[in-house]
Amino acid sequence: MIVAIDGPAGSGKSTIATEIAKTMGFHKLDTGAMYRAVTFAALDRGVDINDEQAVTDLARSIDIRFTSHEDESTKLTVDGKDCSKQIRTPMVDHNVSAVSAYPGVREAMLIHQRRASEDSDIVAEGRDIGSVVFPHAELKVFLTADPKERARRRVLQRHPGASLEDPSIKDEFDKTLDAIEKRDLLDSTREVAPLVAAPDAVKIDSTSHTIDEVVSMISDLIRERR
Ligand code: DC
Repeated sequence: MIVAIDGPAGSGKSTIATEIAKTMGFHKLDTGAMYRAVTFAALDRGVDINDEQAVTDLARSIDIRFTSHEDESTKLTVDGKDCSKQIRTPMVDHNVSAVSAYPGVREAMLIHQRRASEDSDIVAEGRDIGSVVFPHAELKVFLTADPKERARRRVLQRHPGASLEDPSIKDEFDKTLDAIEKRDLLDSTREVAPLVAAPDAVKIDSTSHTIDEVVSMISDLIRERR
């Protein structure tokens, strides 16, 4: 079975897909991490992000792998080197939309993504999973949340227990909100595989729901369609 979860940054896709994979025994495929890996590799190797051909050649040549560990964490390696932390830096955040807009990069990632579904049930999360990568997925979910709520979640993820009343946290919240709105705009207006809900996707707004509530809604849908 293939479950596709698409939606903008900070909508909760990743946490929810991880939870579903764990409880339903599916493999999780984090496709955003793959675009991040290409972006990190380009920055790390001094490839000009604006050079579409060079970035595309790099995407075709690098070996991106996810490896699961006993403690349930997943590591992402590029050519055998663990890059799990490096793909989450603001530098990568800032450049990943440009890299993921290159058609050749998307084509290279698509091959990896389809292969990942060949020998197990998967829950794949990203922007174009239900619309392009797995148009025949048994279940497609389009997960959204208010941009302010998404920014708040991101900041609290980085500073657990912090208060938005704190001026330095408020400043980080404003910057995060600005970055989220810019990335949403780039991701949803690009020509190739923009962020859009597939016509047959179930739309869920997570603004006023807890993670557990959303996981439970999606798990019910999976049981119905399995
Ligand atoms: O989900 P994320 O923030 O890790 O994704 C990083 C970037 O990758 C995001 O700005 C858009 C891009 N992306 C994409 O174009 N297609 C996907 N299926 C997943 C992510």
